[in-house]
Amino acid sequence: MIYAQILAGGKGTRMGNVPMPKQFLLLADKPILIHTIEKFTLESRFDAILVVCPADWVSHTEDIIKKYITDERVHVVVGGADRNETLMSGINYIQDHYGIQDDDVVVTHDAVRPFITQRIINDNIVAVLENKAVDTVVPAIDTIVRGANDQVTDIPVRSEMYQGQTPQSFHIKTLIDSYNALSSEQKASLSDSCKICSLAGQKVSLVRGENYNFKITTPFDLRVASALVEKRS
Ligand code: CTP
Repeated sequence: MIYAQILAGGKGTRMGNVPMPKQFLLLADKPILIHTIEKFTLESRFDAILVVCPADWVSHTEDIIKKYITDERVHVVVGGADRNETLMSGINYIQDHYGIQDDDVVVTHDAVRPFITQRIINDNIVAVLENKAVDTVVPAIDTIVRGANDQVTDIPVRSEMYQGQTPQSFHIKTLIDSYNALSSEQKASLSDSCKICSLAGQKVSLVRGENYNFKITTPFDLRVASALVEKRS
């Protein structure tokens, strides 16, 4: 089976003083989350599309999905305290409701990247069916500088640097084995899901993202996203 998992369990604190987590804010005529779910419902190879949201927002998420989406493959799942816990909540849901088969894969995506393209989704599906773990990246535009205590400690060669986006896609059994192999400190400190696999010694292959596939994190990003949507309509 091929699953999609849309990670919508965050609080969106960097968005500042807004009345709800940013994935539920309106982008033009509908919530950001709905724009993202719609992109996934266009892909017929997904057997189920899980939307993983904060416990307090389950009924709101169900309401907006009922209002905008008619696809019966979409299911709402309760997320966790951090992004990787949310990811693993979705995996537990798959385990409980469908069972996990040897060749099952999952394409996971940030709810707040509504401009994902069908090309990126397709490339993730193709890559994860051949590899155990896949990351979506764009080449770094700015030079990346490593620093500590107000000092530069390293300036890596820019042509070897990428910025991570999503989707991140996984062979599900490999993801579970890699996650279970981590210590609790490692689990708590990981901000990136592909690192679950790379720390466990698993190769992660790269798929080309797009600059449009940016993450809406701050009020500035929301203004850019709104301008892009207005320009398209
Ligand atoms: N996410 C999640 N579960 C969490 C934390 C984050 O599913 N416990 C999701 C967010 O909903 C978002 C994506 O992961 O779609 C990327 O999260 P990010 O924007 O980096 O974090 P947020 O917690 O949403 O925002 P902030 O860091 O500003 O509080």
